Amino acid sequence: MSELSVTETMPVPPLDANETGDTVLEMSGVVRRFQQAGNVLEVLRGAACAVRRGEIVALVGPSGAGKSTLLHIAGLLEHADGGVIRIGGRDAAQLDDAGRTALRRQTIGFVYQFHHLLPEFSAEENIVLPQMIAGVSKGPARERARELLAQVGLAARASHRPARLSGGEQQRVAIARALANRPSLLIADEPTGNLDHHTADDVFALLTRLVRGGGASRDGFGALVATHNLDLAARMDRVIELRDGVLVES
Ligand SMILES: Nc1ncnc2c1ncn2[C@@H]1O[C@H](COP(=O)(O)OP(=O)(O)OP(=O)(O)O)[C@@H](O)[C@H]1O
Ligand SMILES: [Mg+2]
Repeated sequence: MSELSVTETMPVPPLDANETGDTVLEMSGVVRRFQQAGNVLEVLRGAACAVRRGEIVALVGPSGAGKSTLLHIAGLLEHADGGVIRIGGRDAAQLDDAGRTALRRQTIGFVYQFHHLLPEFSAEENIVLPQMIAGVSKGPARERARELLAQVGLAARASHRPARLSGGEQQRVAIARALANRPSLLIADEPTGNLDHHTADDVFALLTRLVRGGGASRDGFGALVATHNLDLAARMDRVIELRDGVLVES
């Protein structure tokens, strides 16, 4: 761990009253356009949805429908061209870039199709690092990492580097890392898309258990999960479909 050095510490913005409420993500009228070969492609045309603490919501839709685009906007990684995005009641449009980054780091965790773990660090270090970036000191960060590794069933793999973990184990660590800073919203883009059927099922079951386990309590979080797997989608609390740029509850 001695090679870990973190130069950046983020100020933690104060919570507003709505942060204690149930709705962790609220989007309405979200528009996103891209220029493609001289044409304007309107991928999102007034998308709206809400995710509450303790629920796991599936985002489905054909390839190219704009699922990743929507998740990047919800996760404050990309700007929308119009509409309102509220994270825990805070209107992202009211924040400058530093404010958006601070809000994202404090309240949102991401999981992608590929784990994106840092290869030179152990599973535990990969979970410690984002906490240290958020200003947590090493001792408590390690304790939290171990607790999370135990929750995802990998207590015995803490010192393994990603290359020594299976695909399913890598995604479990990525989920633990996404939860390191106790986000209120977990955003996952095809988190099981790279796994075989059986492993995908296991990882999905874990994700669901973690979301439902926290429930609507202060420690709980809501999850928005893009997937092409309609069987998995059907097992989530709700399914929303991205169709022609808008979200339809199905
Ligand atoms: N930065 C960009 N510039 C131009 N076009 C883009 C950009 N990002 C996405 N697009 C286009 O927007 C559309 C939606 O892309 P997106 O990746 O959000 O779809 P998706 O639903 O996630 O697809 P998949 O299921 O294949 O992951 C696509 O037509 C894509 O080419
Ligand atoms: Mg995508």
